[in-house]
Amino acid sequence: MNSSSYDTITFESSTDKAIIDNLIKYAIAPRPICFASTINHLGQINLSPFSYFNFMSHQPPICVFSPLRRMRDGSTKHTLDNIQEVREVVINIVNYAMVQQQSLASTEYPQGTDEFNKSGFTAIASVHVAPPRVAESPIQLECKVRDIITLSDEPGAGNLVIAEILCMHVHKHLLDNDNSISQADLDLVARLGGDWYCRVTGENLFIVPKPLRRLGIGIDQLPENIRRSDTLTGNHLGLLANVEALPKLQQGLPEDKYLKYLRLNFPEDSPQFTQKVHEYVAQLLDAGQLDKAWQILLCSTRVL
Ligand SMILES: Cc1cc2nc3c(=O)[nH]c(=O)nc-3n(C[C@H](O)[C@H](O)[C@H](O)COP(=O)(O)O)c2cc1C
Repeated sequence: MNSSSYDTITFESSTDKAIIDNLIKYAIAPRPICFASTINHLGQINLSPFSYFNFMSHQPPICVFSPLRRMRDGSTKHTLDNIQEVREVVINIVNYAMVQQQSLASTEYPQGTDEFNKSGFTAIASVHVAPPRVAESPIQLECKVRDIITLSDEPGAGNLVIAEILCMHVHKHLLDNDNSISQADLDLVARLGGDWYCRVTGENLFIVPKPLRRLGIGIDQLPENIRRSDTLTGNHLGLLANVEALPKLQQGLPEDKYLKYLRLNFPEDSPQFTQKVHEYVAQLLDAGQLDKAWQILLCSTRVL
């Protein structure tokens, strides 16, 4: 891993507010979308998307989302007004099939407009709360609002809606017999900076093994010429360092054919040999072959 220095430009929220307002949406991304269904005391329904949203607590099960005061005039959004009257919300999770219609629902329609009708979604009755659910949404969370934290009265001010999940509806076809779900099948979308969204598809999912069960040795304990490799990246070193102890060379294994080829073609004490070995190790790590990658490093004694 090359330890280079990074030049940075610093923006202060006291003087560079507009720049930060724009950049922060690119930086804190992707953001899941809370498609919030609410109702006022007259029974008028509202449906609007909010990406300042996440799951915050398992016990109690809590989601938080934030309808901001409008930038143009500091007025509050209908979703917040409704929640202040009827402290209930259904958080509908947005997948790719819903993305254009949910965007339409974000239009600033006049108070009292039912965005279910405007955006063409199907309203179905909830079990515990008055606002309806979006039938098309793969997962719907019925919530009661525990608290609303108002951050200021300025335009753009957040209002943190602290919503406790009462029940979770999941489209049946997404669940297997163990009540597990395939992340790819959910086909979620998320909001990023500007007009960008992203879609969670099978091709862009990958697994990072949890380091929790095994206490990894840490990058500081890797042999120096692995740690300082120009070829192995931070991700590679992270994988190599996620072992309980430096692995031992397994005796009696047949010599790896590619390593043999490298030995025949490059002097073992040459930088080229080290580089080729590290390139090979990088490929093995990218393919998920941690044990083999370590064995190659251990076999090529010059590398250690
Ligand atoms: C994907 C997406 C995410 C959004 N996230 C937020 C948000 O987190 N907070 C916010 O105040 N507005 C957000 N908006 C804009 C609101 O959806 C929009 O202001 C909406 O009209 C509010 O409706 P209401 O006044 O009926 O509650 C988002 C819009 C879209 C399309």
